[in-house]
Amino acid sequence: MRIVRQFGYSLGVNPRQASVQEAFDRHSSVYDERFSRPILGETIRNEVWQIADVEFAGARNLLDLGSGTGEDAIHYAQRGAHVTAVDLSPGMLNRSKAKATALGLPANIDCVVAEMTTYSAPAAGFDGLISNFGALNCIHDLSFLRRLCETSLRPGSSLVLITMGYFYPLETTLFLLKADPRRAFRRLRGSCEVTIEGSRVPVYYHSVAAMRRMLGPAFQLKQAVGLRAFLPVPGWEHLQRLTSSAVLRGLDRAWCRFSPTATLADHFVSVWRFKP
Ligand SMILES: C[S@@+](CC[C@H](N)C(=O)[O-])C[C@H]1O[C@@H](n2cnc3c(N)ncnc32)[C@H](O)[C@@H]1O
Repeated sequence: MRIVRQFGYSLGVNPRQASVQEAFDRHSSVYDERFSRPILGETIRNEVWQIADVEFAGARNLLDLGSGTGEDAIHYAQRGAHVTAVDLSPGMLNRSKAKATALGLPANIDCVVAEMTTYSAPAAGFDGLISNFGALNCIHDLSFLRRLCETSLRPGSSLVLITMGYFYPLETTLFLLKADPRRAFRRLRGSCEVTIEGSRVPVYYHSVAAMRRMLGPAFQLKQAVGLRAFLPVPGWEHLQRLTSSAVLRGLDRAWCRFSPTATLADHFVSVWRFKP
């Protein structure tokens, strides 16, 4: 595994990106323990993989944007693909490297420390692109994906993008019960700032319509599937008993699969076909 820093990255980083990088560098030591390892986190990631594995069935060369601690990069490397894992945070990429080395994986993951919106990829190198669990919610304007895909993604390839939805019914209900309407409806305002490990991180909530506008006509939406609308997410395990009724699980499943409501969830998977 190689770790590459792209073109004087540390010199070119702006204060906002520096704050995001600091946040995720600090968060990298606990990210897997808090998010990837709990059964709930593993279950939700498995739901993503059920969709993404089909899209990437024949892919040999994948791009993972905002790859974090490398859970997806390792999954696809284990399935025989070469993965280029791009992340702003050296701390996150160091975790990926340690995990891949411990698993004795061959050198088929390249880690690139880079700001994804300015990442310069090899020409027509990739036949699939994934960006999982909200990495794209750190970005205001997703139109950079057009340029990136035009130069680096083979026509006909899939993009599997997992982003935070702008309305999560369970979260809204909980904050309303706590008489906190500001947090209950913060996603509907389109953007907010959260504090991660003491650093401010901007979060932008993109609707599918907005994504379609930013991506442009070369990207066709194939499907959108929600990930938890009425059920809890990692960190809210204490609510699992309260929300474990078959009715609520059935409602969640139907809501997350029904296209008009699928994106009104904590996260949603959108699958796009690149057809320039
Ligand atoms: C919530 S984590 C998701 C990590 C991983 N995709 C996963 O599924 O576990 C978001 C990741 O996006 C990265 N990130 C945020 N903004 C970025 C940017 N502008 N360029 C590259 N990476 C970025 C963070 O460093 C962090 O590792």
